[in-house]
Amino acid sequence: YWSVDNFSGSEENLQLIKEAALWITKGEVVAFPTETVYGLGANALDERAVKRIFEAKGRPSDNPLIVHIADIDQLSELVSEIPEIAQLLMKQFWPGPLTLIFKKKEAVAPSVTAGLDTVAVRMPDHPVARELLRAAGVPVAAPSANLSGKPSPTTAGHVFHDLKGRIKGIVDGGKTGVGLESTVLDCSKDVPVLYRPGGVTKEELEAVVGKVNVDPSLLSDDQTPLSPGMKYTHYSPAGTLYLVQEKERILELVAQAKVDGKRVGVLTTEEGACRYKEADVVVPCGSRTDLASVATALYESLRKFDEYGAEVIFSEVFPYEGLGIAIMNRLEKAAGGQTPL
Ligand code: TXA
Ligand code: MG
Repeated sequence: YWSVDNFSGSEENLQLIKEAALWITKGEVVAFPTETVYGLGANALDERAVKRIFEAKGRPSDNPLIVHIADIDQLSELVSEIPEIAQLLMKQFWPGPLTLIFKKKEAVAPSVTAGLDTVAVRMPDHPVARELLRAAGVPVAAPSANLSGKPSPTTAGHVFHDLKGRIKGIVDGGKTGVGLESTVLDCSKDVPVLYRPGGVTKEELEAVVGKVNVDPSLLSDDQTPLSPGMKYTHYSPAGTLYLVQEKERILELVAQAKVDGKRVGVLTTEEGACRYKEADVVVPCGSRTDLASVATALYESLRKFDEYGAEVIFSEVFPYEGLGIAIMNRLEKAAGGQTPL
């Protein structure tokens, strides 16, 4: 456990990060903060090291990982082609919460890409992540540092809760910022395809590259996702989660669940915190006036229902626009693929 919370770039900070990086170069897995969520990193060129990530998380082997780099120069070692559209996007959004998919090179360990001929790459925008990647000197494959199926970790404590005893260590850089995973965009196609909505919105992408296609599975339930990881249930609290359009309806559902003897939770925002007095666990998640604050707090909020033992959870919904699209995507997955009632 290496604590570099309130990272200042001090000699002491850098020494701790070097220690963690050394383990990565030795083939171990180490969790570290990024601006989106905590990642679980291993040397992306070392097949045995990468396999350890899958074991630690209990991750299905057909779900490929994102490779993290500190420097643009590292890209040529990983990918065989850098389309012009990708150049534009990297210039605009890297470092930042945008993952791009390229045709891959041989050097990438096969497990990283789960047998696909493409590789996902991103340059995180977090001082600790960047320092760690620089110190390791190798590209680092890293999925979110949660147990498979659980909400992604936004604090070192979440990582510890899920993975203690299963990994070499955790670099603690405090709370992450964006709170939701990066946007995943395939730019190996003529028109780029959005596979996962995230920190960078479709509108922001289109402002740079013109048209962006959206994986049809994001718009309709009966399509298979083009990105393997998107087919799995995710982010789920232990209790059953329902998304509910009408706030009045939530009040009725809470009352009914109480009659049924259930421990009831409600996911709302600061604005709604006083509305659901009958519920056992009310978690306010950010403010409706600022969807970024909802994104930042979402996973921590979902984990709170487990802490307080909620058996059934009703959640308010958010507008399907801007960051709201990524928020609703995660909530729908957490609800087991159910669209709002
Ligand atoms: O913000 C993030 O992206 C975080 C931090 C740690 O960087 N990482 C993260 O990784 O969310 P993970 O493993 O939880 O999600 C990776 C996603 C999956 O949905 C996977 O299917 C997709 O990226 N992916 C990876 N490689 C791919 C490829 N070659 N083709 C299509 N999708 C790919
Ligand atoms: Mg994940």
